[in-house]
Amino acid sequence: MTDIQNIVILTGAGVSAESGIDTFRDGGGLWEQHRVEDVATPEAYIRDPDLVHRFYDARRAAIQTKVPNAAHDALARLDAAWKGEFLIVTQNVDDLHERAGASRLLHMHGEHLNAWCTACDNRSHWTGTLIERPPCPACGLPGYLRPDVVWFGEMPYRMEDIYRAINRADLFVSIGTSGAVYPAAGFVREARAAGAKTLELNMEPSQGSHWFDEARHGPATALVPAWVDAMLGR
Ligand code: APR
Repeated sequence: MTDIQNIVILTGAGVSAESGIDTFRDGGGLWEQHRVEDVATPEAYIRDPDLVHRFYDARRAAIQTKVPNAAHDALARLDAAWKGEFLIVTQNVDDLHERAGASRLLHMHGEHLNAWCTACDNRSHWTGTLIERPPCPACGLPGYLRPDVVWFGEMPYRMEDIYRAINRADLFVSIGTSGAVYPAAGFVREARAAGAKTLELNMEPSQGSHWFDEARHGPATALVPAWVDAMLGR
């Protein structure tokens, strides 16, 4: 791995699964308890804002009871030690990468612990509930705060930064994602086109597994620390 300078890592719900946070598509996953169209779309929010707030208030509270696992810790260790360019692009809206110590990190689907004011566009750190329509900390108007989570039909965040990093990458690693949702599911093809090596670390072959030079299957808490140790020459 000596010719690897710049690394981009895509993470999905599988990296937080062993911390006790539901994935989206595994049996009994999050979406199966709520129909997607009931909670994660702008239309749902207009149709039934209380349902959407109850759903996200419950998720925002739940993630604060979870802790990072060995996969988050290993990725934070790599971030701290890696001298070249390094970026974790996470689809996850929990804050476990941050709490493990990762800093070169980008949430392309937003963050549970942020509230977005649709009156003044301010985003503020938020650990409480939104169902009681609290006032925005910036503009003071009540009733305009929504979860700062990218819903189906909305544009993921910072796509230009992501593609810029992928086009400079020598190695692209996908961890704990099913490859079911675009644009993230297409990143591996961007990386290949840019000449990067590609590696999948996932419990089982993802929908895009065949696009990867190498795929290792098993729990993230086993695969990721072993891979990071190899990258750091341990
Ligand atoms: N270790 C490694 N991989 C795991 C583990 C584990 N312990 N547990 C589950 N996985 C894998 C599953 O095999 C699956 O391929 O993680 C993947 C989780 O896939 P999804 O549930 O589809 O989650 P994700 O890929 O992050 O979903 C992408 O879809 O619903 C939208 O916005 C939502 O960000 C989400 C996006």
